[in-house]
Amino acid sequence: MEIAARIAHLRAEIERHAYAYYVLDAPTIPDAEYDKLFRELQALEAQHPELLSADSPTQRVGSKPLKSFAEVQHRTPMLSLNNAFSEDEVRAFDARIREALGVSEVEYAVEPKFDGLAVTLSYRDGVFVQGATRGDGSTGEDVTENLRTVRDIPLRLNETIKDVEVRGEVLMFKRDFSRLNDEQRARGEKEFVNPRNAAAGSLRQLDSRITASRHLSFFAYGIGYCDCVTLPVRHDQQMDLLWRLDVPVAQQCRVVRGLDGLLGYYREIGAQRAALPFDIDGVVYKVNDIAQQQQLGFVSRAPRFAIAHKFPAEEALTTLLDIEVQVGRTGALTPVARLAPVFVGGVTVTNATLHNEDEIRRKDVRIGDSVIVRRAGDVIPEVARVVLERRPVDAREFTMPITCPVCGSHVARQEDESVSRCTGGLFCPAQRKQALLHFASRRAMNIEGLGDKLVEQLVDARIVSTPADLYRLRLLELIILERMGEKSALNLLAAIELSKRTTLARFIFALGIRNIGESTAKDLAQHFGSLDNLLAADADSLQKVHDVGPVVARSMADFLAETHNREVIKQLREAGVHWAEHQTQPAISLPFSGKIFVLTGTLAALTREQAKEKLEALGAKVSGSVSHKTDYVVAGVEAGSKLDRARELGVAVLDEQQFLAMLKSG
Ligand code: IVH
Repeated sequence: MEIAARIAHLRAEIERHAYAYYVLDAPTIPDAEYDKLFRELQALEAQHPELLSADSPTQRVGSKPLKSFAEVQHRTPMLSLNNAFSEDEVRAFDARIREALGVSEVEYAVEPKFDGLAVTLSYRDGVFVQGATRGDGSTGEDVTENLRTVRDIPLRLNETIKDVEVRGEVLMFKRDFSRLNDEQRARGEKEFVNPRNAAAGSLRQLDSRITASRHLSFFAYGIGYCDCVTLPVRHDQQMDLLWRLDVPVAQQCRVVRGLDGLLGYYREIGAQRAALPFDIDGVVYKVNDIAQQQQLGFVSRAPRFAIAHKFPAEEALTTLLDIEVQVGRTGALTPVARLAPVFVGGVTVTNATLHNEDEIRRKDVRIGDSVIVRRAGDVIPEVARVVLERRPVDAREFTMPITCPVCGSHVARQEDESVSRCTGGLFCPAQRKQALLHFASRRAMNIEGLGDKLVEQLVDARIVSTPADLYRLRLLELIILERMGEKSALNLLAAIELSKRTTLARFIFALGIRNIGESTAKDLAQHFGSLDNLLAADADSLQKVHDVGPVVARSMADFLAETHNREVIKQLREAGVHWAEHQTQPAISLPFSGKIFVLTGTLAALTREQAKEKLEALGAKVSGSVSHKTDYVVAGVEAGSKLDRARELGVAVLDEQQFLAMLKSG
């Protein structure tokens, strides 16, 4: 493209984004992208001064105020800051200052760069009389009524000063931002993109009652015009003065010396960034001595004595090339965005999480879209949102696969869950390590010595892939493993051998079926009595089991529907895993077999534990909650909600006398 045309294009683009950002509070691209366009334009104009023009966005900062607020002429202009994006740029800044001042080391006031919006607050005789936004730096908007609603801003200073302008930033704390978005969502209204936009949107309300309902905060970072006896001669002292006057000043403000002091502060605040209660996009360095500041002066609209050292942007724009699906250790399928490489949060990112299917729908993400990727701190990069105005016509919608991309088993998603899962728990390579560890755990098959490290080695060396393989292990395969002597190998083999003799309940639990914990496994074993009965069960018959609802029944049915899983179960039995089935069959001979009791309130003759023991000895089952499957509720003194529930469901209620009589006859 010809230079002049490129410049014209850049100016139009920048103006369009600036309008969306400043006037509409609806940014179309991330700040870093905007900065890039701006810098390219600045560079081209510097190389071709003949193409510079007065209406270029580089010639003014900000945008005209909205017509609906009254205009305010700033008595001292509200300046902007030059940016440094690297240590080298900071080094050059410090060198310039030292040279201009003719000193070997400079004292700096250092502060967070708050990511909000600049305001100026005017106090006359100590009373807040007017507040304005920055606007274009010389003319801002009168937002006095709105600023009055910001609880941090004192309506009266702690001391009567004739005339002073406090400069600072209005922002929204992260917790207030997420609360506001929760409310917006609940009301079905549009959510804000980030805390800065929420703060801007809240401050620029014509109805100050809306502003009052939003929780905004304020931090001061300077004094504008001042008519008072004497002003302190250092920036940090001026901040201390403001603090004494009841004006909020961030506690992260400090004084440092030299380049090392600056860079040390940058690193210190950078490390705290994610944990800070408010967003910052860098730190600001200011020559501390006001006389030195005046000596240095200004270039165009920015002071020479200060600079903003920006953190790497946490958001960046890129293209979503494809959506792939990853299978996690627990079988959860996570859609992952494959991206055109983009520099964000200080690293180059090519993948980002899309969380789950619902999130993709909610954000309306399609393959081919321009997306904004976010990487904050050490958090996994995510696709934050789509830039709809850039959607290509051939953008494709994503659908969750119906079979697992790793093992081909069916994928199931429960109604009450947002996650889709692979049902091939015992077979799926992605879930192998997790499945084996669970299988061997103490409350499952109890294979002593088969821990994390060993499972890792066995799977990675491809010696074991399903639990059935454990029972085929041989000494020779084991002793070649790292840190495995003959003695421990023999011990492991013995433990595996020992585990073959188990109970049906343990075996069911060991299969690691989603939603089937130890107690449900016991219920299933008790109810079906044999594995073959359980294998023959469908979702309906599963729901007849005590304490088994639709969710658990569905999990079990999904697991059993997967032939891969049945195959592993078959192999386990062939390998010699066994249990005494008759022991777990309902003991028909016992008087209360199959009966379910719930105990509530206090009994006089025996403790609840004793009552439970007696009932179980007679073949009954004692449950903690009343359902339509409950046969009797035993109500002692001060029986509570369980008794109400029993009445509601029409379950038989026994008082202590009746209960004792029943035990006796049993
Ligand atoms: S001083 C004379 N200090 O950054 C310099 N500005 O890019 C005037 N900002 O409009 C600004 N934190 O909205 C200063 N600690 C800080 C700041 C800060 C955030 C904002 C402010 C200003 C913009 C300039």
